[in-house]
Amino acid sequence: MDSKEISFLIDEILKLKKQKEAIILVHNYQRPEIYPIADFIGDSYGLSVEASKTKARIIIFCGVHFMAESASILNPDKKVILPAIDAGCPMADMITAEDIRNLKATYQTTVVSYINTSAETKAESDIICTSSNAVKIVNSLPDEKVIFVPDKNLADYVASQTKKEIIPWDGFCYVHTKFSRDELEKAKRSLRGAKVIVHPECPAGIRELADHVCSTSGMVEYAKESEAKEFLIGTEIGMIEMLKRSVPGKRFYTVPPGSTCVNMKKNHLGRVLEALKNEAPVVTVPEEIRVRAKKALDRMIEVGK
Ligand code: 13P
Ligand code: SF4
Repeated sequence: MDSKEISFLIDEILKLKKQKEAIILVHNYQRPEIYPIADFIGDSYGLSVEASKTKARIIIFCGVHFMAESASILNPDKKVILPAIDAGCPMADMITAEDIRNLKATYQTTVVSYINTSAETKAESDIICTSSNAVKIVNSLPDEKVIFVPDKNLADYVASQTKKEIIPWDGFCYVHTKFSRDELEKAKRSLRGAKVIVHPECPAGIRELADHVCSTSGMVEYAKESEAKEFLIGTEIGMIEMLKRSVPGKRFYTVPPGSTCVNMKKNHLGRVLEALKNEAPVVTVPEEIRVRAKKALDRMIEVGK
């Protein structure tokens, strides 16, 4: 798409967004041409808080399915639209509501589910967390032993930061498990002074080499405050562009070999314009599931305050 076409689509979307009283929420990994139409760009936690506060009639979600579903759980009276309705998260599909019921029956303790889960899974969970608050959520619980699903790497990271016993599940993110420890060691040697920031979905072998482990929006904050001028970033490749724009004057490189979330890239301006025109595809959650899932999400937002 050339820059003329991009400007045309952006103008059309901005006009229609106003007419239709819509808000556009955008995850940090989205394509850069989507940034100018956003009312808010952030990580999963920031996006859920924005979704819980908005007065708009329509929420257009540029992200993946579990994110739009969470917005719908929090806003039953609003139309939540996911332009790329086919944008799932493979990690969210690695655990089911039945798995949670079985884990509860076996271990008889509290279940913390990562926000990267389906509405059905959330409905069986006691509380939700995101990458930005997982440790805080686990530490807020009275239990000494906590079930933590579905990401085994995030569970391992939380276990390294808490005194509580963590019972993990075997899920993982294919994007964050592609980084090479050897290549990262080499990159650190050639970029002396660079700070390494990685997402907690990365395996321990990568996290051990990092200066800081945090959510995607946490990366922007850390890079802004750091005295370093160069950074190696261990997360989805789109974050490099977001960091370059948010922290001008500093340099950002991916941890090799770099990694793309194909589902995050399924949203594009053409799909957003069509979605606004048609007010579809809408993401909804059956009421009986929504009410239980909302309890777990509200509990997270309450602890986060
Ligand atoms: P953040 O909440 O840190 O943005 O992470 C979302 C995600 O899906 C990471 O893969
Ligand atoms: Fe899911 Fe990984 Fe993509 Fe995040 S990066 S949406 S966890 S597949």
